[in-house]
Amino acid sequence: MILITGASSGIGEACARQFAARGRDLILVARRLDRLESLARELRDQHSVQVHCFELNVTDFKAVSELVASQPSLFTRVDTLINNAGLGKGLDPIQSGNPEDWDVMIDTNIKGLLYVTRVILPLMIQKKRGHLILMGSVAGRWTYPRGNVYSATKYAVKGLTESLRLDLLGTGIRVTEIAPGMVETGFSEVRLGDAEKAKAVYAGMTPLTANDIADAVVWAEGRPQHVNIQEIVIYPTDQASPSVVQRKAPKDAP
Ligand SMILES: NC(=O)c1ccc[n+]([C@@H]2O[C@H](COP(=O)([O-])OP(=O)(O)OC[C@H]3O[C@@H](n4cnc5c(N)ncnc54)[C@H](OP(=O)(O)O)[C@@H]3O)[C@@H](O)[C@H]2O)c1
Repeated sequence: MILITGASSGIGEACARQFAARGRDLILVARRLDRLESLARELRDQHSVQVHCFELNVTDFKAVSELVASQPSLFTRVDTLINNAGLGKGLDPIQSGNPEDWDVMIDTNIKGLLYVTRVILPLMIQKKRGHLILMGSVAGRWTYPRGNVYSATKYAVKGLTESLRLDLLGTGIRVTEIAPGMVETGFSEVRLGDAEKAKAVYAGMTPLTANDIADAVVWAEGRPQHVNIQEIVIYPTDQASPSVVQRKAPKDAP
């Protein structure tokens, strides 16, 4: 059973599709339950797998713990947790940044990831088996102008991945970080609050797709039990660092 946070869109949704195609049962959580339910219907029909969906805001520790406590036999079956829910909000220098955006990013990308991990890990430890996959970012390795707080949250994901691997040594639980560069998903629209501005982020270059990242997740998860993939960093060929991107001039440019 694979638990995916943030499965209602983008990378989480692509992971759900790829794992279902391999016959794996799923628990999908996000705030937009309608999107999860329509995805679940499709995956059950196409692949005859079990798909359980729950509306969950990962920033609410009480909600996270109550959900897991309310379905003990279901969540005990979780072998792999994909801690994917996350977001960027705003793109401003710190001196004019919006503290509300900072709170949302810190609450979701760091605290939400910790809350879900805290509740699921004891169940995995009991079984002496499990795999935590954390969605980091190249922004958690190299920062970029106005990336500040988003970048800091993804540096935290890198730090937590390292800490988890140390704390879990001897338990049989694997810990992997996936660190993508630019992936065209709902991410930029959520960050910039505008579909046109989001489209411009990928103008003239070929970004990664959510499926490219799901490929890496599925590969890391599918290694034999004694193999722990520590981290996978994936850039589009057109991107050399978070802020160095090769773009073609528009066809109609003078
Ligand atoms: N796209 C990129 O370029 C890129 C690059 C590097 C890393 N990443 C990371 O990849 C992860 C997935 O992002 P994406 O690109 O697939 O973006 P996306 O299409 O916007 O998907 C984000 C997912 O996170 C969920 N989410 C956000 N806040 C949540 C909350 N409080 N509680 C529960 N779920 C929440 C959203 O679901 P609801 O809105 O339904 O709750 C959605 O399913 C994020 O951690 C992001 O930082 C993305």
